[in-house]
Amino acid sequence: MRSTIETTSESSVEQRLERQLEELIASGPEPAATPASQIGTAAYTSPDRHRREVAAIAARPAPALASSELTEPGSFVTTELSGVPLIITRDRHGGVNAMHNACAHRGSTVETRPNGSARIFSCGFHGWSYQLDGSLRAVADAPLFSSEPCERGLQTVPCEERHGVVWVTARPTDDSPTVADWLGSEADELLTELGLGGMVHHATVDYDLACNWKLLTDGFLEIYHLKYLHRNSIAPYFPANLSRVERLGDHFLALLPKNRLVSTISEQPRERWEVLNGLTAALTLVPGTVVQWQAGHVELFSLRPDPADPGRTTARLTMLVPRDRAGETELWDRNWERVNVTIPDEDFAAAVDVQRNIAAGAVPVIQIGANEHCLVDHLAAVDDLSVP
Ligand code: FES
Ligand SMILES: [Fe+2]
Repeated sequence: MRSTIETTSESSVEQRLERQLEELIASGPEPAATPASQIGTAAYTSPDRHRREVAAIAARPAPALASSELTEPGSFVTTELSGVPLIITRDRHGGVNAMHNACAHRGSTVETRPNGSARIFSCGFHGWSYQLDGSLRAVADAPLFSSEPCERGLQTVPCEERHGVVWVTARPTDDSPTVADWLGSEADELLTELGLGGMVHHATVDYDLACNWKLLTDGFLEIYHLKYLHRNSIAPYFPANLSRVERLGDHFLALLPKNRLVSTISEQPRERWEVLNGLTAALTLVPGTVVQWQAGHVELFSLRPDPADPGRTTARLTMLVPRDRAGETELWDRNWERVNVTIPDEDFAAAVDVQRNIAAGAVPVIQIGANEHCLVDHLAAVDDLSVP
């Protein structure tokens, strides 16, 4: 693997990317310096491993939705993360809150709509009500219920806005990290530089897939497949096998320059390069989130494993676009359509196909080339995750 991005010697992420792409283009695809290795396919099917991974995912921040989806005080969305039913709100002070969507009285679902605007939440079972931050507002017929005042509201969980995304830790422990701590300074700086915080929601879709969540991240960690799997879609825009994948703290960053950028870097002076406009950058955040930057927008993948089944994952794909260009709907709709052909029909379909063969016992091990070694590194990074 090439060296990790240094954070001290250069003034901006863009300059670092320029230097790295220049080196990459000059050196070309690297011949393997190590033999191929193997991954036992139990990594994608073992229930014990899956239980540990699900717990590690649930104890860390996950992207629940885009900040811009909670437009005003009272906006709310209901969702499920790591099997936990949640209401996520914007309160009167502009802050965000996440709470269990299960009544503190006898556990009924409090809010049944997928999203909307509310002043308070009222439980349909016995009429208890809650404020936007989950605190208990009123117990129905309180004098009949108890001789003492009740205080317990909805159970809240950590919820933070950062980089234009609402991150929620569905099953926190005492040591669960903040979003900044979990990202680490290098990934945090990259997301700042990419301007994620100035982006707004364009579209969201959920894909329910019959595969392990790691087979989905694997697709963002190697470019070996691009020229074959994507031969009828995006392959013509990229040089084959030319990518750089490296660690950003606990995470992985893959840089894929497009043909156009390769020519620009080879032929034009540095001030014309505009590297951020000519590359695809996929930041795989361990565990379970991928932020992919390309064509002026961001694709946010939130991989949500079925807590009980290692062979099932919901991949929530959200497209974010720059706030000041959000009105260019035709362009973004076209990009959205393209993303929703390439990734589900090609990458996701390949992952489901592989899982089927693994589950059939047809593939006891998979072979990992030196050019794919980040798959092994990613698996090791997942193994290193404790339940904090
Ligand atoms: S379960 Fe909600 S008020 Fe009784
Ligand atoms: Fe792909």
